[in-house]
Amino acid sequence: MDETGRIYLVGAGPGDPDLLTVKALKALKKADVVVYDRLISDEILDLIGPGAARIFVGKAASNHHLPQEDINALLVKLAKTSHTIVRLKGGDPFVFGRGSEEALYLARHNIAFEVIPGITAASGISSSLGIPLTHRGLSTGVRFVTGHAKGDEDLDLDWKSLADEQTTLVFYMGLANLSEISRRLIAEGLSPGTPAAAVSKGTVNGQRQCIGTLADLSGLVADIDLPSPVLIIVGQVVGLADMLNWQELPYEDAYSAMELPEKRECSA
Ligand SMILES: C[S@@+](CC[C@H](N)C(=O)[O-])C[C@H]1O[C@@H](n2cnc3c(N)ncnc32)[C@H](O)[C@@H]1O
Repeated sequence: MDETGRIYLVGAGPGDPDLLTVKALKALKKADVVVYDRLISDEILDLIGPGAARIFVGKAASNHHLPQEDINALLVKLAKTSHTIVRLKGGDPFVFGRGSEEALYLARHNIAFEVIPGITAASGISSSLGIPLTHRGLSTGVRFVTGHAKGDEDLDLDWKSLADEQTTLVFYMGLANLSEISRRLIAEGLSPGTPAAAVSKGTVNGQRQCIGTLADLSGLVADIDLPSPVLIIVGQVVGLADMLNWQELPYEDAYSAMELPEKRECSA
């Protein structure tokens, strides 16, 4: 008989507890132990069953609470002593979440695991603002891109292929490199007037966003010192936010607007 517990690598979505999947909620309710990251909102932690132990393992861009190797080792140790372990990660565990590294480690140690997907920040946050990631005639595809390089290294991205007017770009972890991202994309031919958004604390209390252009977004963000986590969306589809922001606009305005607006502003 298998003496080890089962590890559920669970995506918590972008923060709003209503964006958890039913499967994720069930896992949180039945867990004996929940190992969670910094991006998990308090409202989601409140959904953990009362008997479960909680272990915070942190992770900020430059300040890892517990190194990844220690997190891996902790999961294996917990699998030997507990029955149901939830490894709870922001967004989707397999999108820039190092969930696959943890899964590989578990596989190598013969620990049973299951992956429960979550709504990734790109999807959850763009929807909340009325920004479609693709739109016929404006965007034929979307790319999720890391905006973060190890230590002080330069961002090693294929800027030429990224600078495509027909592709929506979503940068995760790109706040510190926002001006570099804009500069490189413009240098490779993307129009400086391409609509762009930076969204802080998306879908949770305190959400703020700046909407502008590739050329001026980093200035807007710096002016108000937009706090992390921040997601950056670049592409013509961002221009639709003014018409499709279903949380703010009356429907008549949404349907009567014919032109893509030129909006350059940050939320209050
Ligand atoms: C380490 S990545 C984790 C991504 C996560 N696995 C996902 O699928 O969304 C962290 C980055 O995701 C983005 N992010 C995640 N949640 C966010 C939120 N609620 N608001 C803004 N950005 C968020 C930010 O770019 C942040 O720096």
